[in-house]
Amino acid sequence: MILEAREIKKQYHRDNILFSAVNDVSLSIGEGEFVCIVGRSGSGKSTLLNILAGLLTPTSGSVSFEGREYGGMNDGELSRLRNTRLGYIMQGHNVLSNFTVLQNVLLPHIFFKRDDDPTDRALSLLEQVGLRPLASQYPSSLSGGELHRVSIARALLMSPGLLIADEPTGDLDEETVSEIMGLFAGIVSKGTAVLMVTHNSDAASYADRMYTMQSGRLSEM
Ligand SMILES: Nc1ncnc2c1ncn2[C@@H]1O[C@H](COP(=O)(O)OP(=O)(O)O)[C@@H](O)[C@H]1O
Ligand SMILES: [Mg+2]
Repeated sequence: MILEAREIKKQYHRDNILFSAVNDVSLSIGEGEFVCIVGRSGSGKSTLLNILAGLLTPTSGSVSFEGREYGGMNDGELSRLRNTRLGYIMQGHNVLSNFTVLQNVLLPHIFFKRDDDPTDRALSLLEQVGLRPLASQYPSSLSGGELHRVSIARALLMSPGLLIADEPTGDLDEETVSEIMGLFAGIVSKGTAVLMVTHNSDAASYADRMYTMQSGRLSEM
């Protein structure tokens, strides 16, 4: 297993009442698996992904990635993991407007410097997502689908074992959505596991497993 989550619970207070945004969720993802989660807005999907990516500490339960528990790691170790072994595409595309497309893809390397020069790799990822000709453009001249593809290329820069994506096809037209779903299927076929939250009805035809989230609870479909 690349990722194992056991009995995750995340509680918040709302109007002085305690509620569970994520309620007793267990999930295991194997190497190269494609797992999708669907569910209504507010059902706890993003909260769960934030916990699985090590950005948010659960109220109870544990997460381990490649056999290491998040609970036993310090901030430095967690951020190293997030910048190297785990790619996280958060809701919205999070592309920085003052950087070119290429510079945006290179960001993980800038945050977490390694000795090698990743420029060739970034350009080849841009080629894979069909954006090579736009490498020196600024985000303001890109379409919504192109911006999503920039964030996908960026999440892949460090060759993660697992890519987590929160609604990467949100707000996109049908054609762009199937393009992006195809892109994820290609990533999976090269051995990277993918965990994706999506509203896309075609997701079931790509995914190895589908889950639905309802009021914080996850169930297999
Ligand atoms: N930091 C927070 N404090 C209080 N409530 C929160 C917080 N984050 C999320 N929630 C609540 O938890 C529930 C699940 O949110 P979220 O995980 O964003 O849902 P989804 O991604 O499925 O739309 C929502 O009711 C939301 O309002
Ligand atoms: Mg969400």
